[in-house]
Amino acid sequence: MSNVFVSQHPLVRHKLGILRDRSTEPKKFRQLVKELTALLAYEATLDLTTQPVKIQTPIMIADCDELREKIGLVPILRAGLGMVEGIWELMPSSEVWHIGLYRDESTLKPVEYYNKLPIEPTVSVCLILDPMLATGGSATATADILKRWGVKKIKFVGIIGAPEGIANMQKHHPDIPIHLACVDDHLNEKGYIVPGLGDAGDRQFGTA
Ligand code: PRP
Ligand code: URA
Repeated sequence: MSNVFVSQHPLVRHKLGILRDRSTEPKKFRQLVKELTALLAYEATLDLTTQPVKIQTPIMIADCDELREKIGLVPILRAGLGMVEGIWELMPSSEVWHIGLYRDESTLKPVEYYNKLPIEPTVSVCLILDPMLATGGSATATADILKRWGVKKIKFVGIIGAPEGIANMQKHHPDIPIHLACVDDHLNEKGYIVPGLGDAGDRQFGTA
């Protein structure tokens, strides 16, 4: 699991417990998704490259750094949407490219329903955002789309991963690092992560 990074940060572990709690209401749930994503993104962006830049301070010119790579945030609709804001506050010039996928409940396979990527890639790094990596069908399909688009550097940022989803990503996209708050035990017969947090989309949008 060398490309799987599970945050050990105490704030992440604390917030994840509240997120899992069935009594956590959608408003609080959305806030926690946003906060957890910012913490995970802080760790996931550790290797972004910078270039030197000279900045005039009130005192003198200082040698500083600025991000070199153009970053794209790719939330998988719907549940990934709630992860955008937490990273966008840290990297406000990121582009956001939505990919619409839902899991067919009987086959558990992803069905694509929204993709407005332009022909040529406009970013050099993409962070795929989805709180749940269950079978990994949605994440692998999104990685396929981004690779076909021409993006070379891709990372997956999620909150809870199942061993099955991680194995699926590692089989099809071994080059993509996976950043998570936690790896759970297994998937149940309906493809839900156990113990998990239930349906991340429904819990954010109040549609349970
Ligand atoms: C959920 C979740 C992921 C997907 C994970 O989306 O947000 O996108 O399932 O499952 P997988 O790893 O087995 O593909 P869902 O299909 O429920 O759609 P929603 O976000 O619109 O609720
Ligand atoms: N999607 C979710 O929202 N939750 C799961 O446990 C699995 C897939």
